[in-house]
Amino acid sequence: MHSDTTGSWTPVALSADLPAGTVIPARIPAGSIALWRSESGRPAASANRCPHRGMSLSHGFVRGEALSCIYHGWSYARAGNCLRIPAHPGLTPPEAIRVKTYPVEETGGVIWVAMGEPSSTPPKLEGLVALRSLTADAGIEAIEAAAGAKTSPEGLIEPAANTETICLLLSEQEGGQTLIHVLLKGEAVPTVRIAASRAAESLRRKAEDLQEKGIGQ
Ligand code: FES
Repeated sequence: MHSDTTGSWTPVALSADLPAGTVIPARIPAGSIALWRSESGRPAASANRCPHRGMSLSHGFVRGEALSCIYHGWSYARAGNCLRIPAHPGLTPPEAIRVKTYPVEETGGVIWVAMGEPSSTPPKLEGLVALRSLTADAGIEAIEAAAGAKTSPEGLIEPAANTETICLLLSEQEGGQTLIHVLLKGEAVPTVRIAASRAAESLRRKAEDLQEKGIGQ
């Protein structure tokens, strides 16, 4: 996503793709993160590296309100402090053992993560309904070219061929890929949802073709 359009917020995933008690990998400009939701439903984001021996925390598991590392089971609170070291059950983990965490917000069915202290809230996305996310082997410029539209100040793209039905939220990934969150303009019946999903897939193909031809590089 263009960092100057939504402050420091990155739309990392759709709320529906992160059920309670799960963890998934995600990406912000600062790098890879572990995005997780506690069993009570609160989202959290931490650096994707265990302070113990560097295992990816996105491979870990959630129990209650903590994220645990899959390797030696050290568990971390939403605030990043270490809660438990299974090999030393009687030990209160020192404060110095912490994983870096990031601010998280959920609006309009989208999970947003900020770097540092955000100066504003994420875009409200009023009237929009999250449909699905898909990954394109194309950069943002190629997607804008395929959509025939530019990113708005709110960070949204309205594809010229589908202005009535969908908006896109983009998030830059590693290796020149882009995560595309597809948002519907209001609740819709299944046939409209399916058509919107296909329109987004077709736009992705077009963007990937343009990227291959060197447009948007
Ligand atoms: S590497 Fe995470 S607990 Fe050891």
